[in-house]
Amino acid sequence: MTESTGAGNGMLDRREWLQLGVAGAAALGLPACAAWDGEEEGQTEAPPLHPPAGATDADWETVRAHFLVEPGTAYLNNASIGMPPRQVVDAVAAGYRAMAELPARGRDDLSAQITERVIPGLADLFSISAEELALTRNASEALHLQTIGVTLDPGDEVLITSQEHPAGRRPWEFRQVREGIRVREVFIPSPLPAEEEILSRIEAEIAPRTRAVAFCHVTRGGHLYPVQAICGLARDRGLVSLVDGAQAVGQFPVDLSSLGCDAYAVSLHKWMLAPAGTGFLFVRRDARDRIRTAFAPDATPERPQFGPVGTAAFPVRAAIGSAVDFVTTLGLEAVEARCRFLSDHLKGRLAELPDVTLLSGTLGQSAPGSTIFEKDGLDAVAAVGAIETFASAHIDEHQRDGHNAIRVSTHIYNTTAQVDRFVEALARTTG
Ligand SMILES: Cc1ncc(COP(=O)(O)O)c(C=O)c1O
Repeated sequence: MTESTGAGNGMLDRREWLQLGVAGAAALGLPACAAWDGEEEGQTEAPPLHPPAGATDADWETVRAHFLVEPGTAYLNNASIGMPPRQVVDAVAAGYRAMAELPARGRDDLSAQITERVIPGLADLFSISAEELALTRNASEALHLQTIGVTLDPGDEVLITSQEHPAGRRPWEFRQVREGIRVREVFIPSPLPAEEEILSRIEAEIAPRTRAVAFCHVTRGGHLYPVQAICGLARDRGLVSLVDGAQAVGQFPVDLSSLGCDAYAVSLHKWMLAPAGTGFLFVRRDARDRIRTAFAPDATPERPQFGPVGTAAFPVRAAIGSAVDFVTTLGLEAVEARCRFLSDHLKGRLAELPDVTLLSGTLGQSAPGSTIFEKDGLDAVAAVGAIETFASAHIDEHQRDGHNAIRVSTHIYNTTAQVDRFVEALARTTG
């Protein structure tokens, strides 16, 4: 019997992998797992953080030392959940310690940090005012709040795209079932067509009862939408525009005041490297007549009260400040360049494999860090398990939009050696 990984479909010969081992890897010119990128075990202190001079591995070497990644692991699944740097981890721990030592004082001190530092820091980074931002636990919560906040009557219609994440789709389905709102799906092909085609597909679905359009800035698979143009179309046609920014923020600079959207939902625990359980909702000040809070009966345009109420994970929220400091010190332009450098390297290596089809678009159509592709005959789900088990490379499947694809998401802490290691493993993994 062939011992295989994943779905047990015989896709990978386990013996081949095991025989490869460290010696085999060396013979094939592959660095052994523990030494892929020169990670050192037991490193306890990170060097001071400075903005890197360029986008190469050497430029980012000291930045990498700020992450606690398990030695030998190539974590190429940042789009799923990001890896917080050491200073964020330490801030969460310090916050919980403060709350354990004297809970009410800890809560009050952390709440003050959140109000005085975290919210203004995020507002600055995304070019909005602090009053336009409400912290949430994640993008899903923000998407739900922005969706149920839109003032609609039964029979009104909203447009969503065929590429929405369930977190963006489900709140509309909720309103469809509960209130009789009609949800129309606009089919957007993948790979992404040109901007004009995306706009004309959306425009073609606008009907007399259409009131809102909801779509991703960057999809789960890394497709980059022409968000400003879609919001402009919505404004011209009198529609509320709601954006899912879960995969966008932290990968490249985002100026929320100039995108033109009415609301924008953010995940901070992906590309922003904040602790798990963090996100925010942005509602543009002059959209408050069309988007209302789900919580407060006494909300006014001056006091919109969008934020979920009650006791929050104060240490986690306060530690967002450390993530903002980290990313701001590096600069989001530099983060974008580094992510793009690594995904360009990946795309170059994938182009050497004749049985691989790249699904990510060109510069203006793909996010810097996420890449999707298919390999002939390879089941993506099984491949993810196989490559993790035998090459310690963590990736994700992308079985959406009719694809049987693999998603690799590279962030600043990855290296070209890790990407190479993954590509070598992919080349040896067959269906
Ligand atoms: C496009 C998109 N939207 C929303 C979400 C949900 O994000 P969160 O886990 O922060 O709720 C994800 C998560 O992967 C996503 O990819």
